[in-house]
Amino acid sequence: MSDFLLAIESSCDDTGAAVFCNDELVSNVVFSQIIHEQYGGVVPEVASRRHLQAILPVVNKALSQAGVDKSQLKAIACTRGPGLMGSLLVGYTFAKALAFALDIPLISIDHMKAHIMAHFIEEPKPAFPFLCLTVSGGHTQLVIVRDYDHFEVVGSTLDDAAGEAFDKTGKLLGLPYPAGPLVDREASNGSAIFEFSTAKIDGLDFSFSGFKTSVLYFLRDQIRQNENFVAENLSDICASIQHNIVEALVSKCLLALEEFSLSTLAVAGGVSANSGLRRQLRNVANERNLELFIPKISYCTDNAAMIGIAGYLEWKRGCPFSYELAPDPRLKSML
Ligand code: KG4
Ligand code: ZN
Repeated sequence: MSDFLLAIESSCDDTGAAVFCNDELVSNVVFSQIIHEQYGGVVPEVASRRHLQAILPVVNKALSQAGVDKSQLKAIACTRGPGLMGSLLVGYTFAKALAFALDIPLISIDHMKAHIMAHFIEEPKPAFPFLCLTVSGGHTQLVIVRDYDHFEVVGSTLDDAAGEAFDKTGKLLGLPYPAGPLVDREASNGSAIFEFSTAKIDGLDFSFSGFKTSVLYFLRDQIRQNENFVAENLSDICASIQHNIVEALVSKCLLALEEFSLSTLAVAGGVSANSGLRRQLRNVANERNLELFIPKISYCTDNAAMIGIAGYLEWKRGCPFSYELAPDPRLKSML
């Protein structure tokens, strides 16, 4: 039997829709709002208005690419949070109205859990339990995933997220938002020759705000001596920034694996697209004989396929659903 599920994601600045036939992804459409580049960050009001314009075309495209009519849908999964309230409201209200009209379940999904569940879209899939480093624009977490519905957050950032660290230091270099992918690209032509101070946090938590300030002061001092410093050294500065962030992330992963006696490591979220992080994770996995799971780039950044697989698995486990829930920008459903 073909159980078609529509998934919708609109937590930040990407409007996504995907269709699953049972546990198989059949279409996955993402509309990314590049308008925020000019503002140096996501402008919430602009983001929600763009979602409003994009939601219907994106959903229709996902349905038509899947060759599915909405009357064939058996369930809808949608991001309920965390995220920007205005952005969440557009996708969630759309999903709720459609589910209600079609008289099918509306499965509410935690965006951060869904990033982790992206590992279950395609083979190879990690076996439980595993450690997942979840690194995005708004979150940096170490999560022990014990089962599909058993997540334990054992470390998180005390201030900025890893994606923010990339974006904000990139902005200091004059790079447009989101600077993360551009820092990554520049870093591939440079060497990590500059040193920045990073806060040493005990245990499994992270901190990136001191690092950001250190980059700020370093650039200020260098530019005083040479106003072309950034232009002349962009690749090396980017490589140094990336090296610092990657080292901070990977060292905490190793600490957590040891502390919880785990040998399977996964990475999820937008920053897991970073080539330096992927390379360093592969290196340590080889050295220490770890099983490593790194998603395809298109499943790292925000997408509806991850919402779909998380929704499908909840639906098939018979989890209760409700039309009564509202989006929650601070949703925290993981322990
Ligand atoms: O998961 P995501 O798409 O959205 C959130 O849920 O936040 O993550 C977006 C973040 C941004 O901070 C972006 O700069 C970062 O992921 N990012 C990268 C790369 N690709 C995306 N950071 C470093 N290197 C990349 N290649
Ligand atoms: Zn995300």
